[in-house]
Amino acid sequence: MHVHVIYAHPLKDSLAAQLHEIVLDELTKAGHTVDDLDLYAEGFDPVLSAEERRDYHDTSINQKYIRPYVERLQRAEGVVLCHPVWNFGWPAILKGYFDRVFLPDVSFKMKDGMLYPGLTNIRRLATVTTYGSPRWRAWVLGDPPRKNGTRFLRAVCHPNVKVTYHALYNINNVTPEMVDNYLKKVRKAMSQF
Ligand SMILES: Cc1cc2nc3c(=O)[nH]c(=O)nc-3n(C[C@H](O)[C@H](O)[C@H](O)COP(=O)(O)O)c2cc1C
Repeated sequence: MHVHVIYAHPLKDSLAAQLHEIVLDELTKAGHTVDDLDLYAEGFDPVLSAEERRDYHDTSINQKYIRPYVERLQRAEGVVLCHPVWNFGWPAILKGYFDRVFLPDVSFKMKDGMLYPGLTNIRRLATVTTYGSPRWRAWVLGDPPRKNGTRFLRAVCHPNVKVTYHALYNINNVTPEMVDNYLKKVRKAMSQF
């Protein structure tokens, strides 16, 4: 399978960086071809410009600003997001990726007033993430990153897409053993992606 990994963290010595390495390693070992998009390393600009907003609905030209990113996404049969949770959402650079790349005729198609998924090439979708908050507090707040990573993204993929969400909560209060168990869990999940 051709897997597009989308990674968002600025530090090379972070837990997210460690998870990113595991994701790349295990997917490659399992025989997948991997296209790794490291948003910070590539200097991705997350700001939707005035021109892009103006052209957003004009599907004859709306892709011209970010065409290479659209092509990479459209080649993917699987997508893995790897990021920390910031302000109960995606880090800004990743949110901006979706703002700019998930365009009409890319992530969704509109026909007779109805919305249809645009990324039916994607049949496997996974998120690998960490939270500072304990799970109960995230749950009380509706856990928006979990809902975005599972429900919102599911809706734009193939109707039978297999969706998984791997999260370690309460990161400041977990033991080294719990972190280690999470790394093992992610390793196993990626080896079976
Ligand atoms: C800017 C910022 C915002 C954060 N906001 C949240 C938050 O809203 N909810 C949460 O659970 N954790 C939050 N955290 C904690 C991060 O999720 C935590 O630091 C991260 O998962 C640890 O992984 P890392 O070492 O790879 O950065 C925030 C951290 C930062 C730096």
